[in-house]
Amino acid sequence: MGRKRLQGQRALVTGASSGIGLELARVLAEEGAHLVLVARRTERLEALAAELKQKHGVDARVLTSDLQQPDAARALFDQTEGQGLAIDVLVNNAGFGNYDDFVAIPWERHATMLQVNVVALTQLSHLFLPKMLERRHGRLMNVASIGAYLPCPTFGVYAASKAYVRNVTEAIDYELKGTGVRAISVCPGGTTTEFLDAANQQLKPGASLAMMSAERCARIAVKKMLRGRRNVVTGFLNSLGMWLLRFVPRGLYAWIGAASMGAAVEKKPRALAATPPPPALPGPPAGA
Ligand SMILES: NC(=O)c1ccc[n+]([C@@H]2O[C@H](COP(=O)([O-])OP(=O)(O)OC[C@H]3O[C@@H](n4cnc5c(N)ncnc54)[C@H](OP(=O)(O)O)[C@@H]3O)[C@@H](O)[C@H]2O)c1
Repeated sequence: MGRKRLQGQRALVTGASSGIGLELARVLAEEGAHLVLVARRTERLEALAAELKQKHGVDARVLTSDLQQPDAARALFDQTEGQGLAIDVLVNNAGFGNYDDFVAIPWERHATMLQVNVVALTQLSHLFLPKMLERRHGRLMNVASIGAYLPCPTFGVYAASKAYVRNVTEAIDYELKGTGVRAISVCPGGTTTEFLDAANQQLKPGASLAMMSAERCARIAVKKMLRGRRNVVTGFLNSLGMWLLRFVPRGLYAWIGAASMGAAVEKKPRALAATPPPPALPGPPAGA
């Protein structure tokens, strides 16, 4: 590898315990960046930190954080910038989906997902950007999805959360013009990670051929961030598909969303892992 383009800078990556976030951390370390690794599964983060230190000689710290908690973003800021640890690259990657009909998903799952995918991401961006602006240097990477491009029945709230991520990130990047700070939204297509499992999905036979590796996805994301792109869809076929959508009448989007999801994945034959049991309905009096 040639010149390390992030030598001496520090990146904070949320969702670094698995999948795309883990690979983003590896690619950023390869580019010379020190890391702050964030997720709930501390042991995984510590193993990754040890690997990055040993392989790339960077400083890698672990911050265990549950982004479902409303005070999590503020705590992450206080534990880094608040203590003089400058963050040059903020990667909001943590996220998950819930695959089922809108009304079949318990409200708590919708609310938790919106907190992680939308609220925490927005608050972290809002907390860290002013410091980058003071220094006139920095990068924000927000991980969206190709789901951002159209309504996806049975994945509706997730896809809409990603449409939010893409739109808000592109708007922020426009506002950042001339400041030395940039923002990029990254829109992966199907990528082999723990995402499907967490979303209660499984791949249909043959669909694995269309999946990208998390490493490739991360390499594309970092490359495009360093080139100053505002948005990237990972992979040629995904990019072509999203580009072609502009020629399709909006009325067909939900159908296309349903058909493309339905061709690739199906619901897993088990209950959602973190779904609390539904509240017991008041039953008839004993003996009735
Ligand atoms: N894989 C795909 O096909 C695909 C496609 C498009 C977009 N994406 C997006 O890519 C991003 C990364 O997903 P992935 O595919 O790499 O899935 P993944 O392997 O399931 O990783 C998700 C990461 O998010 C973290 N996370 C989830 N809930 C969290 C919480 N409450 N607090 C802190 N961290 C949390 C997880 O860490 P802990 O569980 O340890 O907390 C994990 O590190 C997500 O935003 C996803 O929407 C994925």
